[in-house]
Amino acid sequence: METLLTGLRAAAEPTRLRLLHLLAQGELTVTEITQILGQSQPRVSRHLKLMCEAGLLDRFPEGAWVFYRLAAKGRGGAVARRLLDLLPEGDQTLTLDQQRLSAIRAVRVDKAQAYFSDNASRWDEIRSLQVDEAEVEKALAAVFAGRRVHDLVDMGTGTGRVLEVLAPHVERAVGIDLSREMLSIARTNLERLCLSNCMVRQGDIAQLPLPAASADAVTIHQVLHYATDPGALVAEAARVLEPGGTLAIVDFAPHGEESLRDQHAHRRLGFEDAEVEGWLRTAGLEPAPVFRLPGKPLTVVVWTAQKPYPHITSTGATR
Ligand SMILES: C[S@@+](CC[C@H](N)C(=O)[O-])C[C@H]1O[C@@H](n2cnc3c(N)ncnc32)[C@H](O)[C@@H]1O
Repeated sequence: METLLTGLRAAAEPTRLRLLHLLAQGELTVTEITQILGQSQPRVSRHLKLMCEAGLLDRFPEGAWVFYRLAAKGRGGAVARRLLDLLPEGDQTLTLDQQRLSAIRAVRVDKAQAYFSDNASRWDEIRSLQVDEAEVEKALAAVFAGRRVHDLVDMGTGTGRVLEVLAPHVERAVGIDLSREMLSIARTNLERLCLSNCMVRQGDIAQLPLPAASADAVTIHQVLHYATDPGALVAEAARVLEPGGTLAIVDFAPHGEESLRDQHAHRRLGFEDAEVEGWLRTAGLEPAPVFRLPGKPLTVVVWTAQKPYPHITSTGATR
């Protein structure tokens, strides 16, 4: 009873309802929130603090930034989700907040894409500075070795390196990326290596231009740390996977290299296993073995997961 009352009290204010509405849609920093709400930072921080204390929101500092989002667990999170259902549709203030959120997201995407475009030709060089790529590629290939993959999807394929590495293990592979510059490099690489079973397509990995259950392998290699909503990308990977299919995510373990944000547009400084496993489970996937490749200073992690087969009930129905 006390948790409910605390949650209700903490939400019973117009700005705080607006915060619930915004933070239900993804993670935001205080700076982004102040831009959307048009309120001072101390004021916004006061609201956020109170809502975190009431368990409605989660706060997670990461280097110099602090992200906020709707509480993933606990009674506070449940109260927040119930309240969200009661927010009036078509409310003018919430609609305006939504438009500002979309504008902020568009700027983020433009910034990241501008970076990728500027760096397309240098990308292979940049990634090799961070960790021994040969070891990572060996670990990734080992996930798919020993079985025949018929359709592989590489999300955020960039210069197509993952396609090159996995081409011997797959019948067909498609790499999806938004950046034309990256894709043109990938096409050149694939042609040079005569990898006729691989192709690239321009598309948004948040909405893959592919039908559901059309792949038995999906890879997301060094892409999640740029994403505004990494969990949504994992869910999209799960959508295109067929039952029995495998997802492999390659990214960094938590680190403190703030320069990757300033100089390389990284949004997240690595991921905890628990966070990735949370996204996998939410997407209906079963977490499978995790492989770690310690480096200096960055440790690369390969998280794997399987899409389970539907459960067939005694009446023959699937669930
Ligand atoms: C760091 S690069 C990694 C490329 C490749 N996976 C690799 O490891 O070599 C990230 C790639 O994700 C792509 N990307 C980022 N957001 C995207 C989106 N929403 N849709 C498609 N591609 C995206 C970028 O264009 C870029 O090529």
